[in-house]
Amino acid sequence: MNQTIKFKVRNSGLIRLKCFKDLPDGNLFIAESARQIPFDIKRVYFINTLANPKAIRGKHAHRKLEQVLICVSGSFVLHLDDGRHKQHIRLNDSACGIRVGPLLWHTMSSFSYDCVILVLASEWFDESDYIRDHDVFLQAAARGQRPRSSRTAR
Ligand code: TYD
Repeated sequence: MNQTIKFKVRNSGLIRLKCFKDLPDGNLFIAESARQIPFDIKRVYFINTLANPKAIRGKHAHRKLEQVLICVSGSFVLHLDDGRHKQHIRLNDSACGIRVGPLLWHTMSSFSYDCVILVLASEWFDESDYIRDHDVFLQAAARGQRPRSSRTAR
């Protein structure tokens, strides 16, 4: 993964984990709230068994949830869309994660057979925070991206 990625989409960014390289006795990676991770971690989940070459995950955005995705083994491609800009990032470095913040449509694909994705999330699971329809996402993203000065005065 290119550690100097230029992020075109909003609410994203590179997260560098704390790392102790102890080779040949292994590496140690650390993610702590308010240090490497820009939110309090309330939930952790991971995704494995991604050997199906046609597997596609994600295809949604969140209204408020903050997440950091870390590819702890193998590689995959993360596609990000903020409603205005799109970019894709190949994750293959367990020393770094990618922030996936609110109103960022994300899709994951092209998983290597050994891919394991660790996700750190700011909230407990809440289906009502998901936007699973791309048209609804585009409307929400357009509202979210409107400059403050052009919002209707109250
Ligand atoms: P989803 O977030 O859509 O998976 P992905 O983005 O990896 O494709 O979740 C798939 C299913 O799992 C969905 O029915 C909701 C459920 N789920 C939980 O119950 N709790 C969780 O913390 C997560 C992430 C998903």
